[in-house]
Amino acid sequence: MKPVKVGICGLGTVGSGTFNVLKRNAEEIARRAGRGIEVAQIAQRRPNPHCDTGSTPITAEVLAVADNPEIDVVVELIGGYTLARELVLRAIANGKHVVTANKALIAVHGNEIFAKAREQGVIVAFEASVAGGIPVIKALREGLAANRINWVAGIINGTGNFILSEMREKGRTFPDVLAEAQALGYAEADPTFDVEGIDAAHKLTILASIAFGIPLQFDKAYTEGITRLTTADVGYAEALGYRIKHLGVARSTAQGIELRVHPTLIPADRLIANVNGVMNAVMVNGDAVGSTLFYGAGAGREPTASAVVADLVDVVRAMTSDPENRVPHLAFQPDALSDHPVLPIESCESAYYLRIQAKDHPGVLAQVASILSARGINIESIMQKEAEEHDGLVPMILITHRVTERHMVEAIAALEALDDVVGDVVRIRVEHLN
Ligand code: HSE
Repeated sequence: MKPVKVGICGLGTVGSGTFNVLKRNAEEIARRAGRGIEVAQIAQRRPNPHCDTGSTPITAEVLAVADNPEIDVVVELIGGYTLARELVLRAIANGKHVVTANKALIAVHGNEIFAKAREQGVIVAFEASVAGGIPVIKALREGLAANRINWVAGIINGTGNFILSEMREKGRTFPDVLAEAQALGYAEADPTFDVEGIDAAHKLTILASIAFGIPLQFDKAYTEGITRLTTADVGYAEALGYRIKHLGVARSTAQGIELRVHPTLIPADRLIANVNGVMNAVMVNGDAVGSTLFYGAGAGREPTASAVVADLVDVVRAMTSDPENRVPHLAFQPDALSDHPVLPIESCESAYYLRIQAKDHPGVLAQVASILSARGINIESIMQKEAEEHDGLVPMILITHRVTERHMVEAIAALEALDDVVGDVVRIRVEHLN
Protein backbone atom coordinates (compact mmCIF):
# COMPACT_ATOMS: atom_id res chain seq x y z
CA MET A 1 0.00 0.00 0.00
CA LYS A 2 1.21 3.51 -0.84
CA PRO A 3 2.42 5.54 2.14
CA VAL A 4 0.22 8.31 3.51
CA LYS A 5 1.68 11.70 2.63
CA VAL A 6 1.99 14.23 5.38
CA GLY A 7 2.84 17.94 5.28
CA ILE A 8 4.44 19.40 8.40
CA CYS A 9 3.73 23.09 8.87
CA GLY A 10 6.20 24.63 11.31
CA LEU A 11 9.62 23.15 12.01
CA GLY A 12 10.19 24.55 15.49
CA THR A 13 10.53 22.49 18.65
CA VAL A 14 7.55 20.19 18.06
CA GLY A 15 7.88 20.13 14.25
CA SER A 16 11.50 18.99 14.35
CA GLY A 17 10.64 16.38 17.01
CA THR A 18 7.79 15.08 14.86
CA PHE A 19 10.01 14.81 11.78
CA ASN A 20 12.73 12.99 13.73
CA VAL A 21 10.37 10.53 15.46
CA LEU A 22 8.61 9.72 12.18
CA LYS A 23 11.98 9.03 10.56
CA ARG A 24 13.57 7.13 13.44
CA ASN A 25 10.56 4.90 14.18
CA ALA A 26 9.27 4.64 10.60
CA GLU A 27 9.15 0.86 10.59
CA GLU A 28 7.38 0.48 13.95
CA ILE A 29 4.94 3.23 13.00
CA ALA A 30 4.10 1.59 9.65
CA ARG A 31 3.52 -1.76 11.42
CA ARG A 32 1.05 -0.03 13.72
CA ALA A 33 -0.67 2.17 11.17
CA GLY A 34 -0.86 -0.44 8.41
CA ARG A 35 0.82 1.94 5.96
CA GLY A 36 3.98 3.98 5.90
CA ILE A 37 3.80 7.66 6.83
CA GLU A 38 5.95 9.86 4.60
CA VAL A 39 6.71 13.52 5.17
CA ALA A 40 6.14 14.82 1.64
CA GLN A 41 6.46 18.56 2.34
CA ILE A 42 7.61 20.88 5.11
CA ALA A 43 6.70 24.53 5.55
CA GLN A 44 9.39 26.33 7.51
CA ARG A 45 10.64 29.86 7.85
CA ARG A 46 14.21 28.83 8.71
CA PRO A 47 16.12 25.55 8.99
CA ASN A 48 16.13 23.83 12.36
CA PRO A 49 19.56 22.54 13.47
CA HIS A 50 17.83 19.71 15.41
CA CYS A 51 16.54 18.18 12.22
CA ASP A 52 18.13 16.89 8.99
CA THR A 53 15.29 17.18 6.49
CA GLY A 54 17.39 15.69 3.66
CA SER A 55 15.60 15.84 0.30
CA THR A 56 12.13 16.57 1.71
CA PRO A 57 10.55 19.40 -0.32
CA ILE A 58 10.51 22.65 1.65
CA THR A 59 8.30 25.71 1.22
CA ALA A 60 8.20 28.98 3.12
CA GLU A 61 4.46 29.26 2.48
CA VAL A 62 2.31 27.23 4.92
CA LEU A 63 -0.88 27.57 2.90
CA ALA A 64 0.89 25.87 -0.03
CA VAL A 65 0.85 22.68 2.06
CA ALA A 66 -2.93 22.92 2.53
CA ASP A 67 -3.29 23.35 -1.25
CA ASN A 68 -0.81 20.62 -2.24
CA PRO A 69 -2.87 17.82 -3.90
CA GLU A 70 -0.19 15.27 -2.93
CA ILE A 71 -0.75 15.81 0.80
CA ASP A 72 -3.27 13.64 2.71
CA VAL A 73 -2.71 15.01 6.22
CA VAL A 74 -1.68 18.53 7.26
CA VAL A 75 0.19 18.74 10.57
CA GLU A 76 -0.27 22.23 11.98
CA LEU A 77 2.59 23.15 14.31
CA ILE A 78 2.90 26.88 13.68
CA GLY A 79 0.93 27.93 16.78
CA GLY A 80 -1.11 31.11 17.25
CA TYR A 81 -4.70 31.80 16.28
CA THR A 82 -4.89 33.59 12.95
CA LEU A 83 -2.70 31.95 10.32
CA ALA A 84 -3.15 28.58 12.04
CA ARG A 85 -6.95 28.92 11.75
CA GLU A 86 -6.68 29.87 8.09
CA LEU A 87 -4.34 26.95 7.41
CA VAL A 88 -6.53 24.40 9.18
CA LEU A 89 -9.78 25.62 7.58
CA ARG A 90 -8.08 25.62 4.15
CA ALA A 91 -6.80 22.07 4.67
CA ILE A 92 -10.29 20.92 5.76
CA ALA A 93 -11.93 22.66 2.78
CA ASN A 94 -9.47 20.79 0.55
CA GLY A 95 -10.57 17.49 2.11
CA LYS A 96 -7.41 16.88 4.10
CA HIS A 97 -7.20 15.48 7.59
CA VAL A 98 -5.48 17.65 10.19
CA VAL A 99 -3.29 16.96 13.21
CA THR A 100 -2.53 19.91 15.46
CA ALA A 101 -0.74 20.61 18.75
CA ASN A 102 -2.34 24.05 18.96
CA LYS A 103 -4.38 24.34 22.18
CA ALA A 104 -5.10 28.05 21.66
CA LEU A 105 -6.58 27.30 18.23
CA ILE A 106 -8.74 24.43 19.47
CA ALA A 107 -9.88 26.21 22.65
CA VAL A 108 -10.86 29.39 20.80
CA HIS A 109 -11.85 28.19 17.29
CA GLY A 110 -12.48 24.48 17.88
CA ASN A 111 -16.29 24.61 17.61
CA GLU A 112 -16.02 26.18 14.14
CA ILE A 113 -13.17 23.87 13.05
CA PHE A 114 -14.97 20.69 14.13
CA ALA A 115 -18.19 21.76 12.42
CA LYS A 116 -16.29 22.31 9.13
CA ALA A 117 -14.43 19.01 9.56
CA ARG A 118 -17.76 17.16 9.99
CA GLU A 119 -19.14 18.77 6.83
CA GLN A 120 -16.08 17.56 4.92
CA GLY A 121 -15.89 14.15 6.62
CA VAL A 122 -12.29 14.70 7.75
CA ILE A 123 -10.55 14.13 11.06
CA VAL A 124 -9.01 16.88 13.20
CA ALA A 125 -6.81 15.27 15.85
CA PHE A 126 -5.35 17.28 18.72
CA GLU A 127 -3.88 14.97 21.38
CA ALA A 128 -0.67 17.03 21.56
CA SER A 129 -2.63 20.15 22.47
CA VAL A 130 -3.06 19.06 26.10
CA ALA A 131 -0.34 17.90 28.49
CA GLY A 132 2.38 17.24 25.88
CA GLY A 133 3.15 13.53 25.69
CA ILE A 134 0.40 12.31 28.05
CA PRO A 135 -2.37 10.62 26.03
CA VAL A 136 -5.03 12.16 28.27
CA ILE A 137 -7.45 13.15 25.52
CA LYS A 138 -7.59 9.58 24.29
CA ALA A 139 -7.99 8.33 27.85
CA LEU A 140 -10.80 10.74 28.64
CA ARG A 141 -12.56 10.40 25.29
CA GLU A 142 -12.29 6.64 24.90
CA GLY A 143 -10.88 4.86 27.96
CA LEU A 144 -13.28 6.54 30.40
CA ALA A 145 -16.32 6.62 28.12
CA ALA A 146 -18.41 4.62 30.59
CA ASN A 147 -18.25 7.31 33.26
CA ARG A 148 -20.10 10.37 34.34
CA ILE A 149 -17.07 12.57 34.96
CA ASN A 150 -17.22 14.44 38.28
CA TRP A 151 -14.07 16.51 37.98
CA VAL A 152 -10.76 16.95 36.23
CA ALA A 153 -7.80 18.62 37.92
CA GLY A 154 -4.41 19.00 36.37
CA ILE A 155 -0.98 20.52 36.34
CA ILE A 156 -1.15 21.28 32.64
CA ASN A 157 1.54 23.87 32.05
CA GLY A 158 5.08 22.50 32.08
CA THR A 159 6.76 25.91 32.15
CA GLY A 160 4.81 27.07 35.20
CA ASN A 161 5.42 23.83 37.05
CA PHE A 162 9.13 23.97 36.17
CA ILE A 163 9.31 27.52 37.56
CA LEU A 164 7.45 26.68 40.79
CA SER A 165 9.55 23.53 41.34
CA GLU A 166 12.90 25.26 40.80
CA MET A 167 11.88 28.18 43.04
CA ARG A 168 10.77 25.83 45.82
CA GLU A 169 13.60 23.30 45.59
CA LYS A 170 16.56 25.50 44.68
CA GLY A 171 15.48 28.98 45.72
CA ARG A 172 16.02 30.22 42.14
CA THR A 173 14.42 33.45 40.97
CA PHE A 174 11.37 33.61 38.72
CA PRO A 175 13.08 35.34 35.72
CA ASP A 176 16.09 33.02 35.87
CA VAL A 177 13.97 29.85 35.69
CA LEU A 178 11.68 31.33 33.03
CA ALA A 179 14.72 32.07 30.82
CA GLU A 180 15.83 28.43 31.15
CA ALA A 181 12.31 27.17 30.30
CA GLN A 182 12.40 29.32 27.14
CA ALA A 183 15.85 27.99 26.17
CA LEU A 184 14.59 24.42 26.63
CA GLY A 185 11.66 25.09 24.27
CA TYR A 186 8.98 24.61 26.96
CA ALA A 187 7.57 28.14 27.02
CA GLU A 188 5.04 29.63 24.61
CA ALA A 189 6.20 32.30 22.12
CA ASP A 190 4.61 34.75 24.57
CA PRO A 191 5.60 33.34 27.98
CA THR A 192 2.90 35.36 29.76
CA PHE A 193 0.57 32.66 28.37
CA ASP A 194 2.41 30.19 30.62
CA VAL A 195 2.82 32.22 33.80
CA GLU A 196 -0.58 33.94 33.70
CA GLY A 197 -2.42 30.66 33.21
CA ILE A 198 -3.75 31.34 29.70
CA ASP A 199 -2.06 28.28 28.21
CA ALA A 200 -3.43 26.12 31.05
CA ALA A 201 -6.90 27.63 30.53
CA HIS A 202 -6.76 26.69 26.83
CA LYS A 203 -5.97 23.10 27.81
CA LEU A 204 -8.55 23.00 30.60
CA THR A 205 -11.22 24.29 28.21
CA ILE A 206 -10.49 21.33 25.91
CA LEU A 207 -10.46 18.80 28.76
CA ALA A 208 -13.75 20.14 30.17
CA SER A 209 -15.51 19.83 26.82
CA ILE A 210 -14.41 16.24 26.43
CA ALA A 211 -15.18 15.39 30.06
CA PHE A 212 -18.64 16.92 30.27
CA GLY A 213 -19.83 17.05 26.66
CA ILE A 214 -20.11 20.84 26.47
CA PRO A 215 -19.02 23.16 23.63
CA LEU A 216 -15.57 24.78 23.93
CA GLN A 217 -15.94 27.98 25.97
CA PHE A 218 -12.50 29.45 26.60
CA ASP A 219 -13.96 32.93 27.18
CA LYS A 220 -15.72 31.63 30.32
CA ALA A 221 -12.60 30.14 31.95
CA TYR A 222 -11.31 31.92 35.05
CA THR A 223 -7.56 32.49 34.91
CA GLU A 224 -5.11 33.54 37.61
CA GLY A 225 -1.33 33.29 37.18
CA ILE A 226 1.63 32.46 39.41
CA THR A 227 3.50 35.76 39.16
CA ARG A 228 2.23 37.08 42.49
CA LEU A 229 3.16 34.01 44.55
CA THR A 230 5.74 34.73 47.26
CA THR A 231 8.31 32.45 48.84
CA ALA A 232 6.68 33.31 52.21
CA ASP A 233 3.41 31.67 51.12
CA VAL A 234 5.25 28.69 49.64
CA GLY A 235 6.95 28.24 53.05
CA TYR A 236 3.78 28.66 55.15
CA ALA A 237 1.94 26.23 52.89
CA GLU A 238 4.71 23.66 53.45
CA ALA A 239 4.53 24.19 57.21
CA LEU A 240 0.80 23.42 57.10
CA GLY A 241 1.39 20.25 55.03
CA TYR A 242 0.58 21.61 51.55
CA ARG A 243 2.35 22.30 48.24
CA ILE A 244 1.39 25.16 45.94
CA LYS A 245 0.74 24.10 42.34
CA HIS A 246 -0.73 25.95 39.37
CA LEU A 247 -3.83 23.85 38.89
CA GLY A 248 -6.60 23.74 36.32
CA VAL A 249 -9.88 22.53 37.82
CA ALA A 250 -13.04 21.61 35.90
CA ARG A 251 -15.86 20.35 38.10
CA SER A 252 -19.42 19.41 37.31
CA THR A 253 -21.95 20.68 39.87
CA ALA A 254 -25.74 20.78 39.84
CA GLN A 255 -25.61 24.53 39.09
CA GLY A 256 -23.04 24.33 36.29
CA ILE A 257 -19.44 23.64 35.36
CA GLU A 258 -16.55 25.19 37.27
CA LEU A 259 -13.70 26.08 34.89
CA ARG A 260 -10.78 27.71 36.66
CA VAL A 261 -6.98 27.96 36.63
CA HIS A 262 -5.17 29.37 39.66
CA PRO A 263 -2.40 28.69 42.16
CA THR A 264 -3.70 26.01 44.52
CA LEU A 265 -2.62 24.45 47.80
CA ILE A 266 -2.75 20.65 47.56
CA PRO A 267 -2.03 18.32 50.52
CA ALA A 268 1.67 17.40 50.22
CA ASP A 269 0.95 13.67 50.41
CA ARG A 270 -1.15 13.62 47.20
CA LEU A 271 0.71 12.13 44.23
CA ILE A 272 -0.11 15.18 42.13
CA ALA A 273 1.47 17.49 44.71
CA ASN A 274 4.76 15.71 43.98
CA VAL A 275 4.72 16.29 40.23
CA ASN A 276 7.72 18.51 39.61
CA GLY A 277 9.72 20.17 36.84
CA VAL A 278 8.24 20.14 33.36
CA MET A 279 6.13 17.10 34.18
CA ASN A 280 2.36 17.40 33.93
CA ALA A 281 -0.32 15.32 35.63
CA VAL A 282 -4.06 15.17 35.15
CA MET A 283 -6.46 13.62 37.65
CA VAL A 284 -9.84 12.53 36.33
CA ASN A 285 -12.57 11.47 38.74
CA GLY A 286 -15.41 9.42 37.26
CA ASP A 287 -18.42 7.90 38.98
CA ALA A 288 -17.49 4.34 38.01
CA VAL A 289 -13.70 4.40 37.93
CA GLY A 290 -13.08 6.73 40.90
CA SER A 291 -9.90 8.81 40.70
CA THR A 292 -7.30 8.22 37.99
CA LEU A 293 -3.99 9.99 37.44
CA PHE A 294 -2.18 10.50 34.13
CA TYR A 295 1.44 11.61 34.35
CA GLY A 296 4.23 12.50 31.93
CA ALA A 297 6.24 15.22 30.23
CA GLY A 298 3.98 18.18 29.52
CA ALA A 299 6.20 19.97 27.02
CA GLY A 300 9.36 19.45 25.02
CA ARG A 301 10.45 18.29 21.58
CA GLU A 302 9.92 14.54 21.53
CA PRO A 303 7.31 14.13 24.29
CA THR A 304 4.99 16.42 22.32
CA ALA A 305 6.02 14.76 19.04
CA SER A 306 4.98 11.44 20.62
CA ALA A 307 1.39 12.72 20.80
CA VAL A 308 1.48 14.24 17.29
CA VAL A 309 2.72 10.98 15.77
CA ALA A 310 0.17 8.91 17.71
CA ASP A 311 -2.54 11.14 16.21
CA LEU A 312 -1.07 10.54 12.76
CA VAL A 313 -1.28 6.78 13.33
CA ASP A 314 -4.91 7.16 14.45
CA VAL A 315 -5.73 9.23 11.37
CA VAL A 316 -4.12 6.69 9.03
CA ARG A 317 -6.04 3.84 10.68
CA ALA A 318 -9.36 5.72 10.47
CA MET A 319 -9.07 7.52 7.13
CA THR A 320 -10.89 4.82 5.18
CA SER A 321 -13.62 4.44 7.82
CA ASP A 322 -17.14 5.85 7.61
CA PRO A 323 -16.95 9.44 8.97
CA GLU A 324 -20.28 8.93 10.80
CA ASN A 325 -18.78 6.16 12.88
CA ARG A 326 -15.55 7.78 14.02
CA VAL A 327 -14.85 8.86 17.60
CA PRO A 328 -16.45 12.33 17.89
CA HIS A 329 -13.96 15.20 18.20
CA LEU A 330 -15.27 16.22 21.64
CA ALA A 331 -16.10 12.66 22.79
CA PHE A 332 -19.88 13.24 22.71
CA GLN A 333 -21.93 13.16 19.52
CA PRO A 334 -22.11 16.74 18.21
CA ASP A 335 -25.93 16.83 18.42
CA ALA A 336 -25.76 15.60 22.04
CA LEU A 337 -23.66 18.39 23.55
CA SER A 338 -25.10 19.84 26.75
CA ASP A 339 -25.89 23.50 27.49
CA HIS A 340 -25.06 23.12 31.19
CA PRO A 341 -23.59 26.58 31.88
CA VAL A 342 -20.02 27.40 32.84
CA LEU A 343 -20.21 29.09 36.25
CA PRO A 344 -18.74 32.53 36.97
CA ILE A 345 -15.89 32.35 39.50
CA GLU A 346 -18.10 33.94 42.22
CA SER A 347 -20.24 30.81 42.17
CA CYS A 348 -17.31 28.36 42.38
CA GLU A 349 -16.52 26.63 45.63
CA SER A 350 -13.19 25.75 47.23
CA ALA A 351 -11.36 25.85 50.52
CA TYR A 352 -9.00 28.79 51.07
CA TYR A 353 -5.59 29.65 52.47
CA LEU A 354 -5.57 33.17 53.91
CA ARG A 355 -2.56 35.17 55.10
CA ILE A 356 -3.39 38.21 57.15
CA GLN A 357 -0.81 40.74 58.33
CA ALA A 358 -2.10 42.01 61.69
CA LYS A 359 -0.93 44.44 64.34
CA ASP A 360 0.25 42.69 67.49
CA HIS A 361 -2.83 43.60 69.57
CA PRO A 362 -5.03 41.41 71.79
CA GLY A 363 -8.33 40.29 70.27
CA VAL A 364 -7.37 40.40 66.56
CA LEU A 365 -7.68 36.66 66.16
CA ALA A 366 -11.14 36.75 67.77
CA GLN A 367 -12.25 39.48 65.32
CA VAL A 368 -10.97 37.46 62.38
CA ALA A 369 -12.74 34.31 63.60
CA SER A 370 -15.95 36.27 64.14
CA ILE A 371 -15.95 37.71 60.58
CA LEU A 372 -15.48 34.25 59.12
CA SER A 373 -18.04 32.52 61.33
CA ALA A 374 -20.64 35.23 60.61
CA ARG A 375 -20.45 34.11 56.96
CA GLY A 376 -20.58 30.41 57.77
CA ILE A 377 -16.88 29.93 56.97
CA ASN A 378 -15.36 27.12 59.02
CA ILE A 379 -11.66 27.26 59.93
CA GLU A 380 -9.74 24.02 59.37
CA SER A 381 -6.39 25.17 60.78
CA ILE A 382 -4.66 28.30 61.94
CA MET A 383 -1.04 29.29 62.44
CA GLN A 384 0.17 32.52 64.00
CA LYS A 385 3.84 33.45 63.61
CA GLU A 386 6.10 35.68 65.70
CA ALA A 387 5.88 39.41 64.94
CA GLU A 388 8.15 40.27 61.98
CA GLU A 389 11.25 42.24 63.03
CA HIS A 390 11.07 44.78 60.20
CA ASP A 391 7.45 45.91 60.69
CA GLY A 392 6.21 44.36 63.96
CA LEU A 393 3.28 42.77 62.10
CA VAL A 394 2.07 39.28 62.92
CA PRO A 395 1.44 36.93 59.98
CA MET A 396 -1.73 34.95 60.67
CA ILE A 397 -2.30 31.99 58.35
CA LEU A 398 -5.61 30.18 58.11
CA ILE A 399 -7.00 27.29 56.08
CA THR A 400 -10.78 27.30 55.76
CA HIS A 401 -13.29 24.64 54.81
CA ARG A 402 -15.01 24.87 51.43
CA VAL A 403 -16.98 28.04 50.77
CA THR A 404 -18.42 29.81 47.74
CA GLU A 405 -16.05 32.42 46.29
CA ARG A 406 -18.71 35.14 46.67
CA HIS A 407 -18.78 34.61 50.47
CA MET A 408 -15.01 34.56 50.70
CA VAL A 409 -14.71 37.82 48.76
CA GLU A 410 -17.14 39.45 51.23
CA ALA A 411 -15.24 38.06 54.21
CA ILE A 412 -11.90 39.31 52.84
CA ALA A 413 -13.34 42.81 52.35
CA ALA A 414 -14.50 42.78 56.00
CA LEU A 415 -11.10 41.50 57.19
CA GLU A 416 -9.25 44.19 55.23
CA ALA A 417 -11.50 46.84 56.81
CA LEU A 418 -10.35 45.92 60.34
CA ASP A 419 -8.14 48.58 61.97
CA ASP A 420 -5.66 45.95 63.08
CA VAL A 421 -5.28 44.32 59.65
CA VAL A 422 -2.61 45.91 57.43
CA GLY A 423 -2.56 45.66 53.65
CA ASP A 424 -4.28 43.10 51.46
CA VAL A 425 -5.24 39.66 52.68
CA VAL A 426 -3.43 37.04 50.59
CA ARG A 427 -5.86 34.41 49.34
CA ILE A 428 -4.97 31.13 47.64
CA ARG A 429 -7.51 28.42 46.90
CA VAL A 430 -7.09 24.95 48.41
CA GLU A 431 -8.16 21.64 46.79
CA HIS A 432 -7.96 18.33 48.65
CA LEU A 433 -8.73 16.28 45.51
CA ASN A 434 -10.36 13.43 47.39
N1 HSE B 1 4.19 26.14 26.97
C1 HSE B 1 3.54 24.88 27.18
C2 HSE B 1 3.92 24.36 28.56
C3 HSE B 1 3.98 23.92 26.11
O1 HSE B 1 4.88 24.88 29.14
O2 HSE B 1 3.27 23.48 29.07
C4 HSE B 1 3.17 22.68 26.06
O3 HSE B 1 1.84 22.94 25.77
